[in-house]
Amino acid sequence: MHNNVLTITDGRTDKTYTVPIDKGTIRAMDLRQIKEDAEDFGLMTYDPAFMNTASCQSRITFIDGDRGILRYRGYPIEELAEKCTFLEVAYLILNGELPTEAQLKDWTFLVKHHTMLHETTKKFLEGFRYDAHPMGMLVSTVAALSTVYPEARNVLDPENRRLQIARLIGKVPTIAAYTYRHSLGLPYVYPDNDLHYTANFMNMLWKMLEPKYAAHPVMARALSILFILHADHELNCSTNAMRAIGSSQADPYLSVAGAAAALSGPLHGGANEQVLRMLDVIGTEENIPAYIEQVKAGKLKLMGFGHRVYKNYDPRARIIKWTADQVFQVTGRNPKLDIALALEKIALEDEYFIKRKLYPNVDFYSGIIYQAMGFKPDMFTVLFAIPRTVGWLAHWDELMQDAEQKIARPRQVYTGADTRHLPAEKPVVGFANVG
Ligand code: CMC
Repeated sequence: MHNNVLTITDGRTDKTYTVPIDKGTIRAMDLRQIKEDAEDFGLMTYDPAFMNTASCQSRITFIDGDRGILRYRGYPIEELAEKCTFLEVAYLILNGELPTEAQLKDWTFLVKHHTMLHETTKKFLEGFRYDAHPMGMLVSTVAALSTVYPEARNVLDPENRRLQIARLIGKVPTIAAYTYRHSLGLPYVYPDNDLHYTANFMNMLWKMLEPKYAAHPVMARALSILFILHADHELNCSTNAMRAIGSSQADPYLSVAGAAAALSGPLHGGANEQVLRMLDVIGTEENIPAYIEQVKAGKLKLMGFGHRVYKNYDPRARIIKWTADQVFQVTGRNPKLDIALALEKIALEDEYFIKRKLYPNVDFYSGIIYQAMGFKPDMFTVLFAIPRTVGWLAHWDELMQDAEQKIARPRQVYTGADTRHLPAEKPVVGFANVG
């Protein structure tokens, strides 16, 4: 007979405890009763990098890493990428259900009417150097929106949250496009509400003197698919940052800025930029074996390979490869693709990668498409941040409604010095002294 409990015997005291098992987990707080003696604080778990710790219950995204499955609100990513627009998927992720036709119309109207930036925000962007990295500009400018919308700190009001969510989803592409225009010294282009979400983003990036920007439909659709694939990925590093910052009831602009900062690192969203730089360094297919040897010797990492959760294949990488084919029919094949394919083949046959279950992740091929579409590598992570804003905000909204959540505050295992004292001869500073 199955009993949903875990029985633990503490070898230090020979005492036995039973703790309930629910949804494949035990509550860490149930371990606190396990003490060596009355003075003992109680047993804790130690889990650097959260390898085996769930910090929330979530209804948004399901991943089965061993089987390469990703679903938003129950819908497989393959179906969403094939049959939905980005704003439909954003609605689904945020609200739990796909929108009706009327709901989609209202939602699209709402997002489109929050795409403009306050003119002072444009001036704020002017302060960055011409060669500032776009991710640094994005993070800082999203944080600066907190000063434009002070009411956003009323995070416990659901109506107010909805308004800020629409604002952020509307404005992040505008900020992203303006970071690009700033780096080229080009004038900013205002949003065009006649255009779809991705076509409007392309308009703000690339419109020159033509009266109306017309995005290539294949490019706009490819970008929409890439945005769908990047919209959420449950508790990755940046979403964990969003929840941690949001748990202190900071406003959503500051929380999204913090999440975007976490995304920027090369082990997370910054990997797409690094993949392109790596392919540049490799240069030709003949250089691949020597590069792989350096990776196996621990001197380098194969960027765009490996994942904390996927140990089979990243389902997003498969869809990206298919999308790349559509894009290359328009742009011509990016020669980097041949190096990437050869690299993937050699890596997937190598014992080092097989043993560690290292497969291409979402970032391995996305940069190659982005480059073919005309983006510079330093924009790649910004392109990840735009759709991921939806996921961050869905998690933030879920967190705000979760009665079990409190300020996120892990414990530590202190391993520093025991109590020690300053030398008795060291004089007291006193208030008359500065410093
Ligand atoms: N190249 C070479 N070896 C690797 C790689 C890689 N890309 N990734 C992991 N390994 C090795 C690692 O050295 C370790 O080997 P050993 O057992 O001998 O020490 C083993 O594989 C397990 O790796 P890990 O570091 O314990 O795995 P993790 O779950 O902590 O890290 C990761 C996951 C994604 C940070 C890591 O695989 C990595 O650094 N990949 C390259 C960066 C990258 O592509 N990041 C994008 C991730 S997907 C999108 C996103 O999250 O933004």
